[in-house]
Amino acid sequence: MIDHNTIQRIIDTAEITEVVQDFVNLKKRGVNYLGLCPFHNEKTPSFTVSPSKGIYKCFGCGKGGNAVNFIMEHEHLSYPEALKYLAKKYNIEVVEKELTAEEIQQQNERDSLLVVTKYANTYFQDKLHNNTDGRAIGLSYFKERGFREDIIKKFELGYSLDVRDAFTIAAKEKGYKIDFLEKTGLTIVNENGQYDRFRGRVIFPIHGLSGNVIGFGGRILKKDVKAAKYLNSPESDIYHKSRVLYGMYYAKKSITQLDKCYLVEGYTDVISMHQSGIENVVASSGTSLTVEQIRLIKRFTPNVTIIYDGDAAGIKASLRGIDLVLEQGLNVKVLLLPDGEDPDSFAKSHSSTELEEFIEKNEEDFITFKTRLLFDEAKNDPVRKANLITDIVRSIAVIPETIVRTVYIKECSSILEIDEKVLYGEINKIRRKNYEKEYKKTISPDETFKTASPTVPSFVDDIYSEAQEKEIIRLLLHYSEQTLYTYQEDKYDEPRQVSVAEYIIGEILNDDLEFKNLIYKQIFQEYLEALNSGEKIDNKHFIYHSDPGISKLAADLLSTSYTLSKIFKKGGVHIETEEMKLKQLVPETIIAYKRKILEIAQSDAKSRLKEFQDSNAPNEEIDKLQREFMQITSVISAISRDRGWVAFK
Ligand code: CTP
Ligand code: MN
Repeated sequence: MIDHNTIQRIIDTAEITEVVQDFVNLKKRGVNYLGLCPFHNEKTPSFTVSPSKGIYKCFGCGKGGNAVNFIMEHEHLSYPEALKYLAKKYNIEVVEKELTAEEIQQQNERDSLLVVTKYANTYFQDKLHNNTDGRAIGLSYFKERGFREDIIKKFELGYSLDVRDAFTIAAKEKGYKIDFLEKTGLTIVNENGQYDRFRGRVIFPIHGLSGNVIGFGGRILKKDVKAAKYLNSPESDIYHKSRVLYGMYYAKKSITQLDKCYLVEGYTDVISMHQSGIENVVASSGTSLTVEQIRLIKRFTPNVTIIYDGDAAGIKASLRGIDLVLEQGLNVKVLLLPDGEDPDSFAKSHSSTELEEFIEKNEEDFITFKTRLLFDEAKNDPVRKANLITDIVRSIAVIPETIVRTVYIKECSSILEIDEKVLYGEINKIRRKNYEKEYKKTISPDETFKTASPTVPSFVDDIYSEAQEKEIIRLLLHYSEQTLYTYQEDKYDEPRQVSVAEYIIGEILNDDLEFKNLIYKQIFQEYLEALNSGEKIDNKHFIYHSDPGISKLAADLLSTSYTLSKIFKKGGVHIETEEMKLKQLVPETIIAYKRKILEIAQSDAKSRLKEFQDSNAPNEEIDKLQREFMQITSVISAISRDRGWVAFK
C-alpha cells in the first residue's frame, strides 16, 4: 500500500489542468477551462475543468471528479495505479508501506519479467521487419493474409527465426538472465539444453491493460507438421491467461466510448476487425470465457456481443458458458456469421460500413437466440422440449436483475408457447435452490432473537426508498462482522454464529429485493461476494475503494457518530450504545425497509387501481391488481401486528 503521506503529497501536487491537458485540449473560459469530453462523443465542448476547485465535470455525460479520478477513469487504472501514475508525472517518490520482504521480491520479479518480455517484443518485431528471413517468411505471411503495414506495426506483430535458440542467445548476450527467460516461457530449458519456444512462428504479443507486453501467441507457418497451430506463453507472474483478453489494451477506449464490446475467438479476428475500423473488439483466445475475463469487460461496458463463426456445433458447445456472462449482469447479444466465415474472413471481404450494417441488422439477444435455436430442433418432441425449457429457465434464472428476467420470461414464453406463470415458477425454484446452495444454511433465529422475515411478494419490485437503503448500508459498514445471534439447527450440530452481514444479506436475498441506489447496491454486492468466499472485508476496503462514490459514502457514513440512546437507571446514567442494541436494531431496520417498500407499492397499486377503474380497463387486469393490492395490505398488517404497531390507513 502507498503510505498516507505520499498520497497526500500526490493529491496536493497534482494540478488538475496539467493532468487533464495531457489528454484533452483545453481552452480558457473565464476562471475555468473548457474542452471536448474524453468520456463520450461530442462535437461542442461541455467538459469543464476548474483549477481553483481542482475538479473536472462534463455537463454532457455527467462524469466528474478530481485529478486522481480523472486518471482512473481515463486510463482505466485502479486507485493505487492512478496515484503511481501521478507520482511519476510529478517526480514524487512513492513510499509503499506494509509490503513484506516477500512482496517486494515478488514485485521485483514481476518487473524483471516485464523487462524480458519487452525486450523480446522489440526483438521479434525487429526480425519481422529487418531480417531477411523475417521479411521473406514472416512479413510476407502477414501481407498475404491482407494485414496492412500500419496494423502490423500497431499490434507489434513479430517473427521468431526458425533457429533453435537465436532469441535465447541474443537475450543472454544482452544480459537477460536465463531464469527470467525461462519463467516467461520464452526459452524452454530441459535436459537437451535451451531453445526458443516460438522458433519459426509469427508472433502476436499480448498486452496488459496498461500496455505492457505480458505474453505472446505464436502461429506456426509450416503446413505439414503436427505441432499446434498456435502456441502461447505459459502462465507466469505477469501472465494469467484466465484474466486476460487479447486486444483489450487497444480496445478499451473504443469500448468505453461506444459502450459496447465485441467478443471474438482469435488473434486474427481482433486484428482484421481493427483493420476494418471496428476497434471495440477483444478475443478470448480460443478458450472458454472465465469469470475474471467477464469482469474485465464489465469494467468498461455492460454490453457484449459475441460473434460466432457460422458453424452450429461450436455454438451449441459454448451456450452453457454464456450463463456465466449473464450471471455477471451483462447484456449479451449474439451475432452469427454466414456459414464458413469467421470474423477475420468476413471483415476482410466486406467494407467497414457493410460490416457495421451486418452487425446491426443481425445481432440478436442471447436468450431469444438460444431459445429459437434449440426450439426449432425440439418442437415436435415433448421430452426434448421439456429439457429445453429447463435449460432456458436455467439461463434466465442466473440473471441478477429482476426486471431483465421479467422481460426474458415474457419473450421466451411466447417463443416456447408456454404460460409465463410456469416459467416464473421454474425460475423461482432454481433461484431458491441456487441461493440455498450458496449458503448451505437457512437463516433461522434462536430463541432470543426476533427476525424480520415478512415476505415481500415477488411482484413488488423496482421500488426505491433511499433512506432505508442507506440505513442498511450504514449498519453493514459499522457492524458487518459482529455476531447477531447464534444458531443451532439441530442440538447435535455445532452452534453457528450469524453475523450482521449474513443476516442482512439473507433477508434481502430471500425476498429477492435489490437496492436501487447503485452505490449501495455495489457495496451490498461486495459484502455478498465476501460472504460467499469466506473473506472478511474491513472498512478500509470501502474507504479506499477505487469507486470514488463508494469511498466518499463510506467515509461519510463511518465518520458520523450517531447519537446514542440513553437509558436512565436508578442511581445513575447507564448509556446503552447502538452496538449493544443490534439484536433489536438490525431486524427493525430490515422491517422498516420492507415496510417502506410495501407502503409505496400499496399506494402505487391504489392509484393504478383508480386509473384502471376510470379508464375501463379489462376486468382481468383490474382483478389482478386488486389481488396484488390485497396481498400487499395483508403483509403490511401482518408486520404491524407482529411488531405491536398499529396499522394505519
Ligand atoms: N488458439 C490457441 N491455440 C491453438 C489453437 C487456437 O491459442 N492451438 C486460439 C488462438 O487465440 C486463435 C483462436 O484460438 O486465434 C482461434 O483458433 P482458430 O480459429 O484455429 O485460429 P484463427 O484465429 O482462425 O487463426 P488462423 O486464421 O491464423 O488460422
Ligand atoms: Mn482464421
